[in-house]
Amino acid sequence: MTDKELAMIAREAMEQAYVPYSHFKVGAALLAKDGTVFKGCNIENASYGATNCAERTAIFKAVSEGYREFEKIAIVASSGDIASPCGICRQVLFEFMPDGKVILDSDEKGMVTYLVRELLPLGFSSKDIK
Ligand code: THU
Repeated sequence: MTDKELAMIAREAMEQAYVPYSHFKVGAALLAKDGTVFKGCNIENASYGATNCAERTAIFKAVSEGYREFEKIAIVASSGDIASPCGICRQVLFEFMPDGKVILDSDEKGMVTYLVRELLPLGFSSKDIK
């Protein structure tokens, strides 16, 4: 699966976004190491803090289905610009795919890629809990 193909699946995922408050749709497509793809969208809530980001929706769907190992995740947003994962999502990505790749694609600004480790230097993990 190429980065561009995964980003196109993220665009499909974005269509399901539930965003009555921000009107900012985000889609994610998560590739598990066995080739399975999980889609996620942001899901907002009238109590704003209960909102779930697209990246975490994808990860939580996958983990709840028994998947633990992931290769890469693609993220797109309705703004047309690159959407960078929030701090909480970076922490969740670090838990399950510290060596994974993050593909940020956009309609207007092209695509950039990072490693999860680059987005969360010195990230807290199970290794820190002694
Ligand atoms: N959002 C995501 O889905 N992913 C991120 O990493 C950044 C923010 C969503 C949450 C909310 O629904 C909207 O974007 C505006 O913050």
